Amino acid sequence: MRESESGLPIEPVYGPGDLAGWDPAEKLGEPGAYPFTRGVYPSMYTGRPWTMRQYAGFGTATESNARYRQLIAHGTTGLSVAFDLPTQMGHDSDALIAHGEVGKVGVAIDSVDDMRVLFDGIPLDQVSTSMTINAPAALLLLMYQLVAEEQGVPARQLTGTIQNDVLKEYIARGTYIFPPKPSLRLIADIFRYCRTEIPRWNTISISGYHMAEAGASPAQEIAFTLADGIEYVRTAVAAGMDVDDFAPRLSFFFVARTTILEEVAKFRAARRIWARVMREEFGARDPKSLMLRFHTQTAGVQLTAQQPEVNLVRVAVQGLAAVLGGTQSLHTNSFDEAIALPTDKSARLALRTQQVLAYETDVTATVDPFAGSYVVERMTDDVEAAALDLMRRVEDLGGAVAAIEHGFQKNEIERSAYRIAQETDSGERVVVGVNRFQLDEEEPYEPLRVDPAIEARQAERLARLRAERDQSAVDRALAELRKAAEGTDNVLYPMKDALKARATVGEVCDALREVWGTYVPSDAF
Ligand code: 3HC
Repeated sequence: MRESESGLPIEPVYGPGDLAGWDPAEKLGEPGAYPFTRGVYPSMYTGRPWTMRQYAGFGTATESNARYRQLIAHGTTGLSVAFDLPTQMGHDSDALIAHGEVGKVGVAIDSVDDMRVLFDGIPLDQVSTSMTINAPAALLLLMYQLVAEEQGVPARQLTGTIQNDVLKEYIARGTYIFPPKPSLRLIADIFRYCRTEIPRWNTISISGYHMAEAGASPAQEIAFTLADGIEYVRTAVAAGMDVDDFAPRLSFFFVARTTILEEVAKFRAARRIWARVMREEFGARDPKSLMLRFHTQTAGVQLTAQQPEVNLVRVAVQGLAAVLGGTQSLHTNSFDEAIALPTDKSARLALRTQQVLAYETDVTATVDPFAGSYVVERMTDDVEAAALDLMRRVEDLGGAVAAIEHGFQKNEIERSAYRIAQETDSGERVVVGVNRFQLDEEEPYEPLRVDPAIEARQAERLARLRAERDQSAVDRALAELRKAAEGTDNVLYPMKDALKARATVGEVCDALREVWGTYVPSDAF
């Protein structure tokens, strides 16, 4: 008998016996109603298709702005900004530590000047923008708000998301800056700031994607993500917020693997667990506080460099899994991403894949098509049980942060990753084109290359900015920011003043580093 990615048995045949005693009223409910197993909206895609939101960004703001305009022209319905590592780590492009990384895995943003170029010609009252930024998420959100103000768009009209999920950075991705305590304080400040200033903004995208890419199984992915979510809710409640004041604007981010059945079960189980936790543990009353709304990205780690066109098929299957699972927003990977940054053509093909799913198939004509399926309902229950067991183990360690400091999530994920590697090496896990059905000789493929002169150009922009700005205004604003960081006032207000005075990302983060220090992983990892 085959095992699922979560190590659960997959029976060759399912039937009524597999759902003995299973009560649809308790397990399913109606679409758009508790426990939301069938989806967060009553009409789902029959009311509105998911947001086609392609993750993109490279080079300077000029290059990325051109790509966003292209994607909008090709029909994308949401933006998703990839930032380069120096920006993600709170360093300026001309910092020594940034050398060689400027504009490489995303766009270089050093100041509000770059943010203005990034969204040039894009009306911010008509687009929802996701920003994959964590430790410095507050800075990028505030620069986005400053640019919107310059466009005459009030903050209350802005829609979008900042990833802002530092806990998974300690577990699986690494773009953290500050230790957990000040990081959680900053996240609570962002929740409060958005509640008052930018009420339609999704303040966090609690992510399982990167843990999945590091090897987490579906059950581990949702267990550790929801455990992080519980930690964030506890933090905000402890900071004095009412759960219904911020929970409606929490969002999530998961992967979609090629194993469709278990992925659909995973998404349905995650919605049911979250709804129950929010109602029973936190006493949330607003139905929007119980809804697990999520973005999905197809599995980057399942893309192959060999026979890259085969990835078009994988991405289509993975995209279908996300749609059958009820995603609110979707990124489909480009087929050449295992080789290099997507070209214009491969990025367009990735978007076209979503458009075929949305407009040529019939899976958007009805809500939660797998409801009542022997196999998917059985798998939903099984993945849910496995995830709940892992969540209990995290709880027994004292919650997500304590478990991270024990290295628990990282060790569990590494065990799964090792199993996947062993199965692939032995051929038990087939990877078409890699360990079966290989070509004697791979066909050549010309990837997109990032112009190395970008780093010098960005450094020149920074030099001009520092020469032109009112340095005493910057110094005063940074001093105010340090004072707020030392106290309990919301740091986003002085931070916005500093960014408006054209303080750079590096300068603002350095001011916070001086007060909060930087995170050093415990040796448990
Ligand atoms: N019936 C009624 N209303 C509906 C509806 C329906 N069927 N469908 C949608 N709507 C409404 C919603 O209520 C919402 O209204 P609101 O703005 O008043 O709340 C509006 O239409 C938009 O719908 P959604 O909120 O469902 O869709 P969005 O796309 O706006 O938001 C999200 C989706 C998941 C909540 C949001 O957080 C999001 O967009 N996340 C994206 C995150 C992302 O892109 N991450 C990229 C990560 S890449 C990365 O990490 C790096 C690399 O390493 C992978």
